[in-house]
Amino acid sequence: MQVIPTIISLRERLSREPGVAFVPTMGNLHEGHLALVELARQHGRCVVVSIFVNPLQFGPTEDFASYPRTFGADCAKLEAAGVDVVFAPAPEELYPVPQQVTVEPPPIAAELCGAYRPGHFRGVATVVLKLFNIVRPQVAVFGKKDYQQLHVVRAMAQQLNVPVEIVGAETTRAADGLALSSRNGYLTSQERAEAPRLQRNLQRLAQEIRSGSRDFKAIEAEVAADLAAHGWRVDYVAVRAQETLAAATSEDTQLVVLAAAYLGKTRLIDNVEMTL
Ligand code: PAJ
Repeated sequence: MQVIPTIISLRERLSREPGVAFVPTMGNLHEGHLALVELARQHGRCVVVSIFVNPLQFGPTEDFASYPRTFGADCAKLEAAGVDVVFAPAPEELYPVPQQVTVEPPPIAAELCGAYRPGHFRGVATVVLKLFNIVRPQVAVFGKKDYQQLHVVRAMAQQLNVPVEIVGAETTRAADGLALSSRNGYLTSQERAEAPRLQRNLQRLAQEIRSGSRDFKAIEAEVAADLAAHGWRVDYVAVRAQETLAAATSEDTQLVVLAAAYLGKTRLIDNVEMTL
């Protein structure tokens, strides 16, 4: 495995690779990231993983400075997973001048997480397009755990004609159902015990829909109230159409239930896809 910090050496290393499968990450890797790597291996002869904590996608009061950086351990995991190349640029390598040219994401990026994290998806779409232009992968793998991010990246690649196939990977979970996340490390042991309620409640909401309930507003509010009653600060619970992420109607058959909520200082997100 090669660890490459510069764009010029990465381009040189990849110039002879016909089929690159790419997994962008911010590091602090867990089994969820490694599942993406495994999927990437099935899609390309050469697997490239980037590790870059992207300042552009963090709000001024968010956890950019304290975001866990565990580069040595990450590289060991990627080596064991059979990754060919790790691209690990310094911030100045990707942002040598202030990034004044950015990708304006579609309007749906202002809803759900975007309503609570202004500018977040612009930062994500911009760094992902830069990484696509640097790595030039045939395939790129993103997790469904960040459902809205996957949607925005797909829209960006499609509408800007980026020649890459975007593959979505299922969410990897702990045995108790909690979606793995680098931010789970912020949870106290008490919060960690409470955290699986998010997924349980989304499953319960999905079950109510399967049983025939179509009063989406009422069941969203019910689930949000239950989380709040157990000490969560809820950003949103929302039933949306999978394809567009627009508010679900009773005609939609492919739905996704998404939520974001704080447990103490930690913001957790999760979702459940369902086909009626
Ligand atoms: P990061 O949070 O490190 O996640 C990297 C990739 O791993 C994303 O595609 C994310 O959806 C996926 N992932 C995280 N937890 C997962 C889980 N439990 N199961 C499956 N996939 C999981 O997302 C980012 O970084 C950044 O926004 C990035 C795309 C790298 C741009 O900076």
